[in-house]
Amino acid sequence: AVAAEARRLHQAVYIVGGFVRDLLLGRPSLDFDIVVEGDAIHLARSLEKRYGGRILPHTRFGTAKWTISPIREKLAGMLSEKNKIDPQELPEALDLISARREFYDYPTALPTVERSSIKLDLHRRDFTINTMAVRLDGHHFGDLYDYWGGLRDLEQKVVRVLHSLSFVDDPTRQLRAVRFEQRFDFHIEHRTLQLMDEGRPLIRHLSGDRLRHELNLILQEEKVFAMLARLQELGLLAAIHPAFGWDEGIRPAMQHVLREPLPESWEFPEKVANLPIRLALAYLVWLLPNPEGKGIAERLRLPATLQEHWQDARTLLENHQTFQDFSASQVVKVLDEIALPALYAVYLLVENKQLKEVLERYIYRWRFVYPQTTGDTLKAMGIPPGPEYREILWQLRAAWLDGRVNSVEEEQALLQC
Ligand code: CTP
Repeated sequence: AVAAEARRLHQAVYIVGGFVRDLLLGRPSLDFDIVVEGDAIHLARSLEKRYGGRILPHTRFGTAKWTISPIREKLAGMLSEKNKIDPQELPEALDLISARREFYDYPTALPTVERSSIKLDLHRRDFTINTMAVRLDGHHFGDLYDYWGGLRDLEQKVVRVLHSLSFVDDPTRQLRAVRFEQRFDFHIEHRTLQLMDEGRPLIRHLSGDRLRHELNLILQEEKVFAMLARLQELGLLAAIHPAFGWDEGIRPAMQHVLREPLPESWEFPEKVANLPIRLALAYLVWLLPNPEGKGIAERLRLPATLQEHWQDARTLLENHQTFQDFSASQVVKVLDEIALPALYAVYLLVENKQLKEVLERYIYRWRFVYPQTTGDTLKAMGIPPGPEYREILWQLRAAWLDGRVNSVEEEQALLQC
């Protein structure tokens, strides 16, 4: 549809970046970045008129998002027999971008943009392997444009910047370099490594949000551990925060949360979205054997509420010996305060068999133990509502947990006292 519309409008349109790289590597994706040599918003409007969907223009950058989810069936139906795909595999939306140049007023600033040719558009990108474009319109369909040596570097398995200011323009590219290097089993080219070495201090200027975004992307990668080890080796974690590091000791637990489904028996609430990634990040930040989790969390702008939540888990890890002398109700009193995901993270991390067993008892049995008596029972007994309710109900629960009460009758008897 995009190709046909571009031909009608006599506009040169390209699919660029990751899609082309992945196609040439034999790992086709449906991650389309479309660049228009001309007015992307104009093209998007005519696409919307002809095919439907909805466009969201962004005039300042000359870009438009074309939401195609409502017309996926129609678009998939336009594909030839040999290219047929399941409509649901099509993305929600396509980004159409006007070819542009970018100027950075100062390192890490958002760029000022200006319309340009596809060649210059490709030149603003991070690594040569991401600078190839395939043209879509008219009889140019399928032509590969490789102005900056992308194909050569792809063949030689090299991650290389296009110019010496690339990391100054955008220091997050240092983390991206490692991500691509490890993902494809490439190597970062010598001069690029030197530039990273020089650009490392600029990481200091990056916002917590951008850093967290990059780390999240890394945590979603298959080779996440190789990436973390490489970031550590290049001093990039320490550049984020001096105490930030990668410790192989954390790997089995992290691997578990990232690769294994969450155990149903733990009954995690369904609303905890993205839990594996969040737990993995928590391992890196709070549960590493380092006392500066708070500093790292602040650097990454992790929400303050999470800090409290993980601090409790950390305390548990550090002080679990005390559990040895605790009764069941004392354990429950401590563990009830810790959020389930944090408890799960600790459970995977601890080696101490005794603590593991205590946690299991809590998760599978104790946390569900409640007296039959409720607030309503107390009200019916004529006790005026107030803070005592909590205390009475807790005492009854503790009696069940510690085996002082073993039947409803015994609970009644205790309640009467
Ligand atoms: N890009 C860049 N500098 C950045 C981020 C992105 O130059 N800091 C460019 C790259 O050329 C990239 C394109 O913008 O190809 C799109 O970015 P993104 O979707 O993040 O990259 P992909 O290459 O598609 O990466 P992935 O395979 O991880 O999706």
